[in-house]
This record gives sequence, C-alpha cells and structure tokens, in this order.
Amino acid sequence: MTSAKDSASLVVDQLSQRIRDHTARIGVIGLGYVGLPLVMAAADRGFRVLGFDVDRAKIDILNAGGSYIKHIRAEDIAAFRESDRFNPTDDFSRLALADVVILCVPTPLSPQREPDLSFVVRTTESVASHLRSGQLIVLESTTYPGTTRQVMRPILERSGLRSGTDFLLAYSPEREDPGNSQFGTHDIPKVVGGDGPDALHLASMLYDEIVTRTVKVSSAEVAEAVKLTENIFRSVNIALVNELKVVFEAMGIDVWEVIEAAKTKPFGYMPFYPGPGLGGHCIPIDPFYLTWKAREFNIATRFIELAGEINTAMPQRVVDKAIETLNERAGKALKGARILIVGIAYKKNVDDTRESPAFKIMELLEKRGAQLSFYDPFVAEIPKLREHPEFAGRRAIDWTKRVLAEFELAIICTDHDAVDYKLLVESCPLVIDTRNVCARRGIAVTGVVKA
Ligand SMILES: NC(=O)c1ccc[n+]([C@@H]2O[C@H](COP(=O)([O-])OP(=O)(O)OC[C@H]3O[C@@H](n4cnc5c(N)ncnc54)[C@H](O)[C@@H]3O)[C@@H](O)[C@H]2O)c1
Repeated sequence: MTSAKDSASLVVDQLSQRIRDHTARIGVIGLGYVGLPLVMAAADRGFRVLGFDVDRAKIDILNAGGSYIKHIRAEDIAAFRESDRFNPTDDFSRLALADVVILCVPTPLSPQREPDLSFVVRTTESVASHLRSGQLIVLESTTYPGTTRQVMRPILERSGLRSGTDFLLAYSPEREDPGNSQFGTHDIPKVVGGDGPDALHLASMLYDEIVTRTVKVSSAEVAEAVKLTENIFRSVNIALVNELKVVFEAMGIDVWEVIEAAKTKPFGYMPFYPGPGLGGHCIPIDPFYLTWKAREFNIATRFIELAGEINTAMPQRVVDKAIETLNERAGKALKGARILIVGIAYKKNVDDTRESPAFKIMELLEKRGAQLSFYDPFVAEIPKLREHPEFAGRRAIDWTKRVLAEFELAIICTDHDAVDYKLLVESCPLVIDTRNVCARRGIAVTGVVKA
C-alpha cells in the first residue's frame, strides 16, 4: 500500500521531471494584461500552453492569430498557434489536461472599496471541479495575505484532494509593467511562496525555466505581502510628490526641476513624478486590499489612506487649474468651453484605460458644462468601462492643425511618446500639462501651464 508521503513524493518527482524537460502542460486562466504575456513567455521557452478565458471574443481573436494588447505582437501569437504551443479556449473541462494551472484573473475593489475576490473564487471553483492528482496550482493575481491558503485552498480541497499531498498550491505575484521597453516578462525576477515546501520547490522550479530569477520566500502570505508592499510603496511616493508639487507651486518652485536635480544623488533617493491622479489596475486599488485585511487585526493603515486621499484629489486640482487658466488667460468660463483631453490611457505608451484619471477629469469638466473631445494615439474609441460607462463609444479626434485650432484649451493627461506636442501648442492657445512633457521636449511656450 502507498502511504500519503510516498504518493506526495511521487507527485513531486513526476512534475519535476515534466517541468525540467518542458513537457509539463501549462494552463493560464485569464488572458489579459498579465495572463497573455505569461502565455507568450512560457510558450517562448518551449512549453505547451492552454489559455483559458471566459471572454469568447478574446478567444476568437487569439485563435485567429490576432492580438488585443498593443505590446503583444499578433505575429508571435499566430506563430505559437501554428506550432501548437498555444491553445486558447473557453472550455474549462480542458483544465484537467494541464499539469500546472496559473490564475491571472482580475482582483478589483467593490463599489464599497472592499476587495472583490469573486473572480478568484469563481475561477478556483472551476479549477476544483477539474482538479486531478499531481497538479500545481499558482495564483498570480494581486491580493491580500491569506487569499491562497484561506480562500483558495478550502475550495480546492472540496474536491477531496489535499494540498501538499495530492496537488500543490503556490502564490507568485505578477510584476508586469506594460509598455516598459527595458523589462519584459522574462527579465523580471519572480517572488514565489508555497503552501508547503513541495509547492515552493515546484513553483520556483517552473518559474526558473521561464524568468531570469526566482526569489523564494517562506510562505504564500509573505509572497502576497511582497506584491502589496511594492504597490503601496509606489502609491505613497506618488502621493508625496503630488503634495510637494502643490507646496512648491505656491512658492514659485517647479517640482519637476527639483526632482531632476534631487535624482542626481547616487543613493537614498528614487524619483517619483507627480501627475493628474492615479490610474491602472494596480496602484489605485491594491493598497486597499491591505487596508481591508488590516481591519481584521484592528490596525489602521494611515499612510495608505492618506496617500489615497492626496492622489484622488489630483483630478479636481487639474479641473481647478483649467477654470483658473481659462478665466485668467482667456477671460472665459469653463461652461461651454471647448476642451481637448490629450491621452486617456492611464500611463504613457500603453492602450490600457482602466481607472485612468483622465476619465475622472472628464467627468468633473462635463459636470461643469465643458464641451469635451479627446485624442489618444492608442485609443481610437473609448471602451466600455466599469467606472465610466457614459464615455463608451466616443471617438478620438483627428490630430491635425485645423482640428486642434478648434479648441480653447487642451489638457495633457498622458504623455505618450507618439504625440506631436509642438503641433498642439502651436495650434491650441492654451495647454495644461500635467506631465511636464512640453518642457521635457523643450517646448517652452507661454500658453503652456503646468498642473
Ligand atoms: N495589468 C498589470 O500591469 C498588472 C501588473 C501586476 C499585477 N496585476 C494583477 O494581475 C491580475 C490580472 O490583471 P490584468 O491586468 O491581467 O487583468 P485583465 O482584466 O487584463 O485580464 C483578466 C482576464 O481574466 C478574464 N477573466 C475574468 N474572469 C475569469 C474567469 N472566471 N475565468 C477565466 N478568465 C476570466 C477576463 O476576461 C480578462 O481577459 C490582477 O490581480 C492585477 O491586479 C496586473
């Protein structure tokens, strides 16, 4: 008779071998900004990957060899489809074919700003209903410490199989930085924490085959905390420079000039830049996962709350600047003013508009009667967004001198490289620059106001 210990070591031995010789089949669930680059990275290293998503439209595009993410090349997807290294599907019964299942599903906040783990829970339930002995399950979605072992593990064990014996469970946070030309998925070290030593061993062994380096930590909770720490660090530091921007502006000091000089210090300083507010799937959201969890321990996360308060006040500040600029420089009211929003993606050189502060600015401006248009080289039409469904379907203007001259004010919200800012300041009488891109390009015109 085989003991539980023997069967566990058999599971580990077999999977180790399959990972080592790249015959392990990898299933990635959630083919978005995190899941799709991971599929490409694993396929690129020779693994056969099954990609799962509930969005049929995405599966159809991928099956046709297309891409819906700007920095993932359709040619690469087509090549992996052709060589059978990538199989996209919405048939979750095929999960049983995978040796490793990696979850990359969304972890948003609820309307009450509490963690919404419904995607993780639903996906784990799908995994549980197809779970078989010998599988390694890894969560990559950003979440609070305890999710892997306290939320996922009980759902998976409802199958009758046991974590650490029959299957292995680990957490490894994604550190994807879309649009970063210096670091792609392969180049970014990956932190790994397991539910037990075997899970840690196998998960880090797997990622060692795909990324440059893995960093093992003692538990899934530590790995979960690492990701939150990284994003809280960003949120707090961005809030700090946003506050400094306001203080220094009142003193007639340009915060961007200050940062340029401060960053020449070779140690003890790291530059962060002010902006129109936080955006994206991570920085405005993730810190509040910890805030929520901390309440269970009767602990207040004051830094996180304060940073959130300062950062969410930034869009209103941009609107105040627009009112002041129109009034003082053009003798005009905001009501009825024709305003162009330049850049609606949440950061430069990407097409991702989730949580973009541009939408908050648009909402506030329209409430006061401004007539808005937008331009973004990567967003021809505003997609349907959970927080701002009212803007869906609006189309970008043509970027021509004649069209630009029709606006009384332009507000640069995102500093994409592919925008001709010189043409903008030559055509539009007033420009509010929330990213300092005009100064960086050497376009110093009196019509440009920093905000
Ligand atoms: N975007 C980033 O730069 C980034 C960076 C690091 C971490 N993260 C984290 O990674 C996770 C995923 O983020 P993302 O940006 O890739 O999100 P995304 O919205 O781009 O992709 C998620 C995908 O999951 C699919 N999905 C939703 N429910 C599903 C289900 N039940 N089964 C299968 N598929 C399902 C969606 O259709 C979508 O394609 C989040 O936790 C996020 O915080 C994101």
